[in-house]
Amino acid sequence: MSGEALPEASVSADAPAASAGTPVLRVRDLKKTYVVGFMRKKVEAVRGVSFEVRPGEIFGLLGPNGAGKTTTIKSILRLVHPSSGSIELFGGSPADPDVRAKVGYMPENPYVYQYLTPREFLDLCGRLVGMGKKERRDRAEAMIDQVKLRHAADRPIGKFSKGMMQRVGLAQALLHDPQLLVLDEPMSGLDPIGRKEVRDVLLAQRDAGKTLLFTSHVLSDVEVLCDRVVILRSGLVRASGELRELVRAEVERYELELADVADPLEAALAPLGELVRHPARLHLTLGERADVDRALALAMEHGAHVVALRPQQRSLEELFVEQTTDAAAP
Ligand SMILES: Nc1ncnc2c1ncn2[C@@H]1O[C@H](COP(=O)(O)OP(=O)(O)OP(=O)(O)O)[C@@H](O)[C@H]1O
Ligand SMILES: [Mg+2]
Repeated sequence: MSGEALPEASVSADAPAASAGTPVLRVRDLKKTYVVGFMRKKVEAVRGVSFEVRPGEIFGLLGPNGAGKTTTIKSILRLVHPSSGSIELFGGSPADPDVRAKVGYMPENPYVYQYLTPREFLDLCGRLVGMGKKERRDRAEAMIDQVKLRHAADRPIGKFSKGMMQRVGLAQALLHDPQLLVLDEPMSGLDPIGRKEVRDVLLAQRDAGKTLLFTSHVLSDVEVLCDRVVILRSGLVRASGELRELVRAEVERYELELADVADPLEAALAPLGELVRHPARLHLTLGERADVDRALALAMEHGAHVVALRPQQRSLEELFVEQTTDAAAP
């Protein structure tokens, strides 16, 4: 958590009535400069970030270490004071307690009381958000089951593994049944089974009509979960949009797989692209659609069989690397 005091409503926007079509979250030209140390050195953590999160979607905030993800999230939740820009939550100000009550937050490093058990900790969290005794107990038990912590529900959290700690953090974020879940690196510290379990919890939330915003480095999780993403680097948006569109945007290569290829055909295909010979198959990687047509015509002519023609899509990992390496700098 930041040590900064919570600011008054300094980046609120006009608050139109929320409606079905109103974004759950609207971030406009957000900037945050930290001033550090005696020399008052400036760190421009976020340098003009805009995006919107729509009702019912899973939105991913991606980027390498230090990109500004946590600062963006803390700004949205008013845990740090943005330098400029506007943030609207549910069409209103994030400073409004009624708006905040609709948000569940799991921090990057959940702060939990070491000597409390998950049951006690969740009870405390429920008290802090003003839940009654029965509601607290019912919700805490339901959350303990949801994050699969029943076996450890009465053990002190201080003895938990990182993965178990993450689950306590997740249970805490879900406790008051928020409309929007904001999760900072929810998969970190989890083994593959733990990641799948958290993924399933998040998907169940989406299926229940909730909206999710999360940061992650684990691109396979992002690829499975997210509807839309923003990729940040050095405090700026490098790419944004629907995940499927982003990874599909540039189909630059095609892979043609052929069987029954005799030597003359192989020689004719060689100039068109990159050939890889397997015992019974030939793989040809082609850069252009016109070359695909030529290769197919040659294959037909020589009596070869087309086993498959696959567009080679960029993976999220490739996109991520492209957008977050020095070559992508403006
Ligand atoms: N409280 C702070 N005071 C000063 N500088 C900070 C503070 N918090 C973050 N920074 C700096 O701001 C930049 C963005 O940090 P931030 O934690 O937002 O990145 P991140 O994308 O969440 O990174 P990570 O993937 O490591 O969690 C970094 O250069 C970081 O060192
Ligand atoms: Mg972070």
